[in-house]
Amino acid sequence: MSLAISFIRPCADPEEIARRAAALFLDVTRSAVKQRGRCSVALAGGSTPRRTYELLAGLPVAWERVHLFWGDERCVPPDHPDSNFGMVQQALLERVRLPPENIYRMPGEMPPPQAAKSYTQELRRFFRANPSLPGFDLVFLGLGEDGHTASLFPGSPALQLQEAWVAVVEHEQPPPPLVTRLSLTLPVLNAARQVVFLVNGANKAPVVRRLFAPTSEEAAAGPLPAAQVLPAAGKLTWLVEAAALAELFR
Ligand code: 6PG
Repeated sequence: MSLAISFIRPCADPEEIARRAAALFLDVTRSAVKQRGRCSVALAGGSTPRRTYELLAGLPVAWERVHLFWGDERCVPPDHPDSNFGMVQQALLERVRLPPENIYRMPGEMPPPQAAKSYTQELRRFFRANPSLPGFDLVFLGLGEDGHTASLFPGSPALQLQEAWVAVVEHEQPPPPLVTRLSLTLPVLNAARQVVFLVNGANKAPVVRRLFAPTSEEAAAGPLPAAQVLPAAGKLTWLVEAAALAELFR
């Protein structure tokens, strides 16, 4: 399977992305709770998903059954302006009654190798029924202009990890912030029941075109990290704003 244009759901603007992502989150939680009594979601960082999280605070989500994880984190304290946890806390967690034990924060303040080990143990405990791989009900992901997703950057050794669930990613080149990161690995992302990318901004139009309509040279250079997120048995959806589709559909 490779990235297909059929995975794309065009959205008029960032607000439509947020509305559709929030509605999808609600649907997934309802079906997961009905089938398994709980719902596990890995949240995206960056700026795009903030509005989705703000809208979620106003929806009738059964928060007591929802378990929130992060797809990646910057290795900074949770109250640091670059913290992905901190962004979700402001946009959502401060506004809903989610039991603290349902929040699985990546410990960005810990020494990174210890943080990766600790988070892996958290994941193994939560997904103990399926020790081979954590099967998130939903994973939200963003897209960088260089084709990265989570904190899996082009050329990163973390892209080759097949056994590890959480990678420590040294990040010294743009895009900022230039801090060490923690990231779920591709095997974990691809074990999810559903993966949804949220992409807005004209600045993402070149990489969206490259992902879905690569030239022969680009294809020969190998798949960008975001193109390697192809859930083995899960559903893949790309919610992409019109401005970010301008080069693909011109
Ligand atoms: C991070 C994110 C990262 C983000 C993309 C897009 O920690 O930075 O996980 O993968 O999703 O860089 O970021 P924007 O949504 O801000 O464009």
